[in-house]
Amino acid sequence: MKRKMAKIAVLVSGGGTNLQALIDAEKSGIISSGKIMLVISNKPDAYALTRAENAGIKTAVVCKNKYKTVHGFENAIKKLIEENEIDFIVLAGFMCILSEDFTKAFPKKIINVHPSLIPSFCGKGFYGLHVHEAALAYGVKVTGATVHFVNEIPDGGEIIMQKAVAIRDNDTPETLQKRVMRLAEWKILPLAVEKVCADLIGKMK
Ligand code: GAR
Repeated sequence: MKRKMAKIAVLVSGGGTNLQALIDAEKSGIISSGKIMLVISNKPDAYALTRAENAGIKTAVVCKNKYKTVHGFENAIKKLIEENEIDFIVLAGFMCILSEDFTKAFPKKIINVHPSLIPSFCGKGFYGLHVHEAALAYGVKVTGATVHFVNEIPDGGEIIMQKAVAIRDNDTPETLQKRVMRLAEWKILPLAVEKVCADLIGKMK
């Protein structure tokens, strides 16, 4: 009998290198308990959509500015999640903060990758390159990445995995961002996805 797999939706906004890491991890067997069924972007021009199409994954675009309220925007995402019978949501460079209304609808079923060692440099206003600018401005010698469950507190949900990355004297926000992605995010996100999917299908049996 075919093994049960958790159906995954990945929410993106930009380049999609973390999405690519997930696609590659599925191909190589690092992720074997889940399958990416849908990629949703809030930006129509996100390169992540091309990555999904190249991998034969269904895509959808839900633009925030097309809706009068956050509720309307989130309901459109919820509808896609339900229509596609998604079990598990991964935020991979998704640059919108989801409301309590949304996160409460999927308890322990949404995870996010954040480019710092939470609780440092996280929460509202800390996203993308800004996180690395803040780490360099503070002068920390070690940073990294965190994968965590998503709840109503931005970057405040239970931590699943973390990986540290050393900061170099000559780092710029851009060099640091690339190294944190390569050494930490692209490694721990697939491992965390596999871990949570394995737990979920255990529970789904
Ligand atoms: C990644 O560094 C991700 O951790 C970060 O944005 C980048 C997206 O890159 N996410 C956040 O800052 C969320 N708070 P990608 O589109 O190439 O995966």
